[in-house]
This record gives sequence, C-alpha cells and structure tokens, in this order.
Amino acid sequence: MMSAPLISKLPRVGTTIFTRMSGLAQAHNALNLSQGFPDFSPPEGLAQALGEHAMRGHNQYAPMAGLPRLREAIAGQLALHRNVAVDADTEITVVPGATESIFCAITAVVTPGDEVIVLDPVYDSYEPAVELAGGRTVHVPLRAGSFDIDWVKVEKAITKRTKLFMLNSPHNPCGSAVSAKDLDILGELAQKHGFLVCSDEVYEHLVYDGRKHCSVLQHPVLRSRSFAHFSFGKTLSVTGWKTGYCVAPPELTRELRKVHQYVAFVAVTPVQHALADFLETQPDYPSSLAGDYQRRRDLFITALSGSRFSWTPAAGSYFQLLDYSDISDEADTELSERWTRELGVASIPVSVFYETPPEQRVLRFCFAKSDEVLLEAAERLCAI
Ligand SMILES: Cc1ncc(COP(=O)(O)O)c(C=O)c1O
Repeated sequence: MMSAPLISKLPRVGTTIFTRMSGLAQAHNALNLSQGFPDFSPPEGLAQALGEHAMRGHNQYAPMAGLPRLREAIAGQLALHRNVAVDADTEITVVPGATESIFCAITAVVTPGDEVIVLDPVYDSYEPAVELAGGRTVHVPLRAGSFDIDWVKVEKAITKRTKLFMLNSPHNPCGSAVSAKDLDILGELAQKHGFLVCSDEVYEHLVYDGRKHCSVLQHPVLRSRSFAHFSFGKTLSVTGWKTGYCVAPPELTRELRKVHQYVAFVAVTPVQHALADFLETQPDYPSSLAGDYQRRRDLFITALSGSRFSWTPAAGSYFQLLDYSDISDEADTELSERWTRELGVASIPVSVFYETPPEQRVLRFCFAKSDEVLLEAAERLCAI
C-alpha cells in the first residue's frame, strides 16, 4: 500500500531535557534536582477540596474560558498582589497549564514569515510553537554571567517582520528577574516597532532579597499589547494539576480563546473549583512563598559554601545556577549525566537552552525540595 511520506514538522525536536534527566535520576536512584517541581505537599486543604468537588459531582465541562468564580478569584488576586484591575469576563482565560496558553497565544498571532524574538537560554516550549505557526525565532543571548537582557542586541534583532517578543521573568533556567527599567525599555521598543509581547510569569511569586516582581500587567504600554501567563502549578505546588491562566486585553483574549477552544477547550472542572475555594479563603497565601523559597535557596547555597562551585544567588524562580569552571572542563551535557550516575545528584545542563551555547560551565539545580534532599545533595556536591 502506498502511503504519503511522513515529513516531521519539528525535525530538531526530541525528548525534552527534563524528561531525559528525570528518567536518568530515577534509573540511578539519584536526588532529582533536575525537573522543576516541588517534592513537598501542596497547601493544606487543597487536595481534599479537589476530592470533595469530584465527589459532589463537579465532573463535566466547565465554561470554555474557565469557571466564573475562579476568574473572579483570579481578578481578586491581581488586584491584591499586583494592584491591577482586570476584567474577569473579557481578559482572563483559565487554561490547562501555562504551556497551553503560551502555545495558544503564539498560534493566535504568529503568521508564516513572522519573526519572534526569544532570549537565550530560552524555555524549551516557545520555539516549537513558533515553528508550527510558520514563524521564525530570532535568538538574542542574555548577557553572559549576569543573565541580564542586552537591550542594544535586542533592538538590533528587531525587523519589520518582528511580531512577538517572548519575555520570561523570573527566568527559567537562569533565576534572573527583570526590573521596572527593563519593562520601560521593552514598552518603548514594542510601541516604536509595533510588536506584541508574550510574558511568561509562572514564577511571579518567587522573587527574593526584597525584590518585587515586575509584571507586564503593571506597565501601561505593555498591558495593552501583552499576553501574561501564570501557573497554579508553580504557585500552589501542584504542577501535576496543569492549571493556569492567561491575562490579556479583550482583543487579544478573543484571539487566544479561538485557539484554546480547539486545543483543549477547557481546564479540568473539579480542579478549578478547588482552586477557587482556596483563593477565596486564603487570598494572602502567595505572599508567604518568597520567604519560604528564599529559605530553601539559602539553605542550599550555604551548605555549598565549602565547595568549589561559584554562583550568584538566584533573584527569582526556584532554580539556582552553579558554575563548575573550577572543577571540570567537561561539557555540561556530559557532566550532568555523569554526576547523576556517579554522585546521585541530577541537574539540568544550561547549554541545551541556547541556539549557540557560549563558553560557560553552568548547571541548573531546582531548590523546590525538602531540607533533607537539599542538604544531602549539597554534601555530595561538596565532596567533589
Ligand atoms: C518558564 C516556564 N514556563 C512555563 C512552564 C509550564 O507551566 P505549566 O506547568 O503551568 O504548563 C514552566 C514549567 O516548568 C516554566 O518553567
């Protein structure tokens, strides 16, 4: 039987580094500081509420844009934590994870031939979405060492075809965070050149050392031309629930929903009810996160103080980069695998998030882990 040849639309895509390293960690019974998820329980009452809503019969499709009560609770969160007014009906869409809403936003606005600026190292889900939409990613590296945005390089990369700019702050994998000044510059460029912004803010509540998260929603120019993506998985330690939301002006939300309704249609109903219960009764909970995660970060890096690694403490996210230049010349891809096997500590090599990896030797470690795991991992790393 004749069949049409299968031509991959994503020929360069394989298994993600997160799946690979987590698999290797499991195979070698290693401490898994590779994939970004907590090894501790979600806040009390949340899992119980999920079970109760399922038992109570909340098991059929929710409205496409999300349960109205959850969207209202999200609008309340944005007013409380960001001091921004958002219309729950026309500007908030509840989605099955930020990955889905980022895909939908890219698909909704990128047309063949469009260019999308991404900053390397770049979170791995953006580029495949751009390619599937027929667009082209233009990679601009973050500054080596500080991982700040080099706005001169960004401006040089802008052309008439630039449709979208991908922002991620706090940043995965670097743990850096943008400042209000960065947003001012981005706003000016977006207005001058007429592009849109897709802002991945899933680690919004995890910013340390007295910093404040800078959201595009708080910036008047960016607010009117951005999709902002958030994840309950990160904020409430339920990454497996795959639920988040996208905030965008009505005209962008309309286009996002056209795609969302044919990709997933809805997010899971009893999960939405459980999240709404939680946000209605504990609206202040996210304010406790920065202190808790900063304590974990500090526990980990203090325990590493006798090691031969060097680092700058993460400004945000739950990832700490460690520079191993004084220990080894090996490539990060090889070293992360070898240390998973031989040391029993799994990490993520950072070079895989670059189009052209620079000369640097850094590994990413997730500190969303229990104290015992962090201390044991640090002890093994100190022994190198
Ligand atoms: C930067 C970034 N964006 C998006 C996501 C995905 O979020 P979700 O699980 O809600 O799809 C992650 C998860 O690790 C992430 O690190």
